Amino acid sequence: MCGIVGYVGFRPAADLIIRGLRRLEYRGYDSAGLAVLNGDGLVVTKASGKLSSLEKKLGPTLPQGTVGLGHTRWATHGAPTTTNAHPHTDQTGRIAVIHNGIIENAGALRTALEQRNHTFESETDTEVLAHLIGELYQGDLELAVAAALREVDGAYGIAVISADEPDCLVAARKGSPLIVGVGDGEWFVASDASALLEHTRSVVYLDDGEMVVLSRDGYRVRSLDVMEISKKIDRIEWDLATIERGGFEHFMLKEIFDQPTSLSNTLSGHLLEDEGTARLEGLNLTNDELKQIDRIIITACGTSWHAALIGEYMIEELARVPVEVEYASEFRYRNPVVDQRTLVIGISQSGETADTLAALVEAKNRGARTIGVVNVVGSTIAREVDGGTYLHAGPEVGVASTKAFTSQLGALALFALRLARLKNLSILQGRQFVEALKALPGQIEEILGRVDEIESLAERFLDTSNALYLGRGVNFPVALEGALKLKEISYIHAEGYPAAEMKHGPIALIDENMPVVFIAPRDAVHSKIVSNIEEVKARGGKVVAFVNDGDHEIERLADATFTIPETLDLLTPILTTIPLQLVAYYVAVRRGCDVDQPRNLAKSVTVE
Ligand code: G6P
Repeated sequence: MCGIVGYVGFRPAADLIIRGLRRLEYRGYDSAGLAVLNGDGLVVTKASGKLSSLEKKLGPTLPQGTVGLGHTRWATHGAPTTTNAHPHTDQTGRIAVIHNGIIENAGALRTALEQRNHTFESETDTEVLAHLIGELYQGDLELAVAAALREVDGAYGIAVISADEPDCLVAARKGSPLIVGVGDGEWFVASDASALLEHTRSVVYLDDGEMVVLSRDGYRVRSLDVMEISKKIDRIEWDLATIERGGFEHFMLKEIFDQPTSLSNTLSGHLLEDEGTARLEGLNLTNDELKQIDRIIITACGTSWHAALIGEYMIEELARVPVEVEYASEFRYRNPVVDQRTLVIGISQSGETADTLAALVEAKNRGARTIGVVNVVGSTIAREVDGGTYLHAGPEVGVASTKAFTSQLGALALFALRLARLKNLSILQGRQFVEALKALPGQIEEILGRVDEIESLAERFLDTSNALYLGRGVNFPVALEGALKLKEISYIHAEGYPAAEMKHGPIALIDENMPVVFIAPRDAVHSKIVSNIEEVKARGGKVVAFVNDGDHEIERLADATFTIPETLDLLTPILTTIPLQLVAYYVAVRRGCDVDQPRNLAKSVTVE
């Protein structure tokens, strides 16, 4: 989704900003722009499309100046045209604003400004904000920004510069992440740490309602009432090498191949082999508090929501505590029933998804304990919840989530084990679960070693416009995730269904052109899924099945199979998911799709 980069220092700003925006490309965007203060005034350049279009427009000589800001826009208000791209300027053309998020009262503000003779070029809410700041400007940019933001409803991360204050940049956040990068004689602001890492690892995370003023003398953080706030400087531990492609053709493929390591990192330090349990100190819950939990709600969006569904199976099966899974966007507005004995778990790779954040805040306000299962350290959700666990999967750049998903499953397995051992799971069963968890990274490695087999399976999907993914039990959500992966990056319509539910509708779609994927490890519902495969074959469907070694029954029925190592039933999703990710990847590559930045999608969805 939208990206912000701002700079105040001694080096040419335009080049630094474009490099920073390039690091944010993975978030998904459809236009870009840049504003630099060159001593005489503002130089603004914008272009629809990718950053390369902006660079083409800028030509070989970049605008001069050591203060500036740049933006990648993911369209919300108005089409992704050059006019709608950020930065937007005020009525005088001397103030430039970039903005992530949505100003909800933009319509009313626009009408009021028009009545005061403001004219607008774009359809955006951001231009309205720029005009408002311009109207309130009386020689102090910080005061004008603070005053304007006090009139605004909605979510924002913004950065603002003015030709009348050539050494200053003001930024502010409410509901959309902003990080200050503290360098040596230079300061940055960005919506995502990856834009800063090349220059500094020292960062300050802004909280909602905070504003930062960067100047040549340093930075200061203020509230919107312009009260000084003291903030600590955090250090980012990961480095640029971890977000480079490392020889792989795409980030998505690299991240699929990262999974033996990323899952090990998620599990590492948490497994207590002798005691057959997991240590999760970050939860900030004592054993007694955990035992008192009588209901769990897991809330998330997208792929993380699929992980939540698998978590439901794990927790209910092992710990016998009732679990409900809610789309965060629904939970936040449904007047949810929660109390002190309800634990609400939010799952989010980015830790910034607006709906998941709002759902957790809602739960907290109603008295529930909240925990986060988050990948990005220091993200808003991680800071908002009462406790939680980090995935330590490393940065995930490909828009389609892969390694974060398997790490989310790993983290949920740890939590389920911990809770179950406090309830009634025996130490022997606990040890068996720990053993199985420890074996998973090696088993993923084994699957990845047979990538050629999966690449040739992908051939079966190249010419189809529909596919059906079916699974049962804990592998039903894997079917949902497999279908999501395929549609996200290859634009083939795919649906995931519980295998038995197929006969209540989707069976009508089955013919000899329709690939039907079955996720069918040898688990408690294996014989049931064999019957479902028979039903598809009886109607001429083409079956691709993911099975355990030696499953001759399904091998005989299916048109193609791929074998997966054996593990405990509850952990099979961590293995069955891997070939489905790879099928989606190879289909998308063969169809010439932009695998890492699929159309219309964003990595981190910071608007509701
Ligand atoms: C976007 C991404 C998905 C992701 C979802 C939730 O839609 O494209 O891959 O699953 O957001 O993101 P989160 O960061 O909260 O896990």
